[in-house]
Amino acid sequence: MSAIPRIVVSPPGPKARELLKMDERYVSPSYSRYYPLVIESGQDCVVKDVDGNEYIDLNAGIACLNVGHVHPKIVNAVKTQCGRFLHYSNTDFYYEQVIRLAEKLADITPGFPEKKTYFGNSGTEAIEAAVKLAKWHTRKQLFIAFVGAFHGRTMGSLSFTASKPTQRRHFFPLMPGVTHVPYGYCYRCPFKMNYPECDYWCIDFIDEFVLKKYVPPEDVAAFVYEPIHGEGGYVVPPPEYFQTLKRLADRYGILTIDDEVQSGIARTGKWFAIEHWGVDPDIICSAKALASGLPIGAATASSKIMDWPAGSHASTFGGNPLSCAAALAVIEVIKEEKLLENSNKQGVYALKRLGEFGQENPIVGDVRGKGLMIGVELVEDKDSKKPASEKAHEVMIRSWKRGVAVVTCGVSTLRLSPPLTIKRETLDLALDIVEDTIKEVATEA
Ligand SMILES: Cc1ncc(COP(=O)(O)O)c(C=O)c1O
Repeated sequence: MSAIPRIVVSPPGPKARELLKMDERYVSPSYSRYYPLVIESGQDCVVKDVDGNEYIDLNAGIACLNVGHVHPKIVNAVKTQCGRFLHYSNTDFYYEQVIRLAEKLADITPGFPEKKTYFGNSGTEAIEAAVKLAKWHTRKQLFIAFVGAFHGRTMGSLSFTASKPTQRRHFFPLMPGVTHVPYGYCYRCPFKMNYPECDYWCIDFIDEFVLKKYVPPEDVAAFVYEPIHGEGGYVVPPPEYFQTLKRLADRYGILTIDDEVQSGIARTGKWFAIEHWGVDPDIICSAKALASGLPIGAATASSKIMDWPAGSHASTFGGNPLSCAAALAVIEVIKEEKLLENSNKQGVYALKRLGEFGQENPIVGDVRGKGLMIGVELVEDKDSKKPASEKAHEVMIRSWKRGVAVVTCGVSTLRLSPPLTIKRETLDLALDIVEDTIKEVATEA
């Protein structure tokens, strides 16, 4: 019998239930918890709950723990930094960790040889910075974003988020000037067309029906996109999608803001997912996995674009030394442990395995992904493609109870984003459980 997963008490166990009661009493109900998993600790690809259950972690703290839980090099880097100084406001003074991390980001991000980075504390702050920078640099006020995207929940980034109505309900007015257009979601093409016969009509549509009709292109500062939709369903656009979009952007002198908060830092087998399309964005946002779960957000842009003056944007804690020390260690670990390679290798394997499984299973509509960012979209049946959201929920809950922590995204997609350190054996154990659970749910009425 394998050591993991290990379920010793049906979750949530007694300790978890006690904490859940307190959570209900004291913590904001706005958090949308997937299931009552109360974490006690983590180790590489395994997460342990407060009642002693151990799960294979296909969530990685929602794509944050790319180097695994408590990687010793990250922990040591943070401990060392703790003994030096905890804070000294990068807004107002200097310290080496920020400077070194900006240098590394200039190196690992695609595009311009000379780049600069702004540091905040979260994904949403990276987006806020990118949007403000695009406004500053271009002196333009309009933006184009994509239906299904998730870019954060503060008022600026929320204006770009278009994944679920609950994220925006009762929060209007948002930032004016953002127009949403359909995304390259071929499995559910908003135009009911088929790839490749469509010949990228979804991009031509932006030109012909948006820019030429009611959003004057000379007033548009930037396109804001995720190279792979995360929260919106792990949706991977077709092969020439971003090249075609970039040509459109260049035609009108519009910048591109690439939100790699979820897809970045080796998640997809490249440092940044947009590299799969060979396109160089103007501004790249990263966060989540950059500091292995410590708060950080980064907007990296060509030095020519990042030309805003002192005082135009800053944050007291942005680029805090602990997060920067962790991020420098994360980049080293990814290189040393060849995690780009492992993400590719295990990702190709998992996609093939799940793809073959999906062909035989009546409720698996689509399997897609890059590296270890993999979505399995469940449907009521393959002909109607009706999203099977309840079934997806059921698969998620039962997998968890059997020892695999996995969550959903979009309407009915299982989202697989394990640490990039995952080994074949562990991945297989997790996939065995997820596939068995899908089989079981598929046979129920
Ligand atoms: C693509 C993307 N952008 C932005 C954000 C917002 O990041 P944060 O929750 O750190 O503000 C997220 C968070 O899930 C994300 O997935």
